[in-house]
Amino acid sequence: MKIIPTLETERLRIRPLVSGDLEDCHRLYVEIDWIDHELDLAANRVRRASWLAWTIDSYRELAALHQPPYGERAIERRADGAFLGLVGLVPSLAAFGQLPAFGGRTDERVRPEMGLFWALRPKAQGSGFATEAATALVGYAVDGLRVERLVATTERDNRASIAVMRRLGMTIEENPHPTSDWPQVVGVLNLE
Ligand SMILES: CC(C)(COP(=O)(O)OP(=O)(O)OC[C@H]1O[C@@H](n2cnc3c(N)ncnc32)[C@H](O)[C@@H]1OP(=O)(O)O)[C@@H](O)C(=O)NCCC(=O)NCCS
Repeated sequence: MKIIPTLETERLRIRPLVSGDLEDCHRLYVEIDWIDHELDLAANRVRRASWLAWTIDSYRELAALHQPPYGERAIERRADGAFLGLVGLVPSLAAFGQLPAFGGRTDERVRPEMGLFWALRPKAQGSGFATEAATALVGYAVDGLRVERLVATTERDNRASIAVMRRLGMTIEENPHPTSDWPQVVGVLNLE
């Protein structure tokens, strides 16, 4: 499979990450508070650098192995090149078959699905950028990859992420088994 090319929408460019994105990625994770609080900021930055190098390498390595093009991409504003956040395809493993949209079989084992991921800098939120970027990626999944379904997973209280799922046209399902804590909410988008 090929590396996902740079995608353009009316306002955005969705492009592969490069090593020069480290500061922007680190700042994003600090701003949305997705950092390891046991580590100081410098150590979190080292962790982000490791993640970024792995992400960049994985574009090439997954393509060489004919594997799906997983990994986050940069969301950039076309007007000025500003880094707004991340969007990507991610492997998602859960007992999806237990959800009504997948048949609701209570004894269903876990299975992999192709998932969507998104995160925006706080100052870029509230402008439709996550939905616009994810819509472009969904379009690529339909036309470029020809996948039959995408999912997104999150916590029950992540209303903003669930709202993105709804704007994408996903069916929203609550995990029917309150004892298993992940995923709490699943968005399902069947593609044609
Ligand atoms: C989840 C997240 C990406 C959602 O961002 P968002 O900006 O709310 O989502 P969208 O890009 O779809 O923007 C929608 C908002 O923009 C508004 N908007 C403004 N101009 C718009 C436009 N031109 N087009 C569409 N929407 C527009 C919408 O009204 C909506 O605002 P509302 O929520 O107040 O109704 C963001 O909250 C985030 O980064 N959270 C932290 C990371 C995270 O939790 N990621 C999910 C992992 S499971």
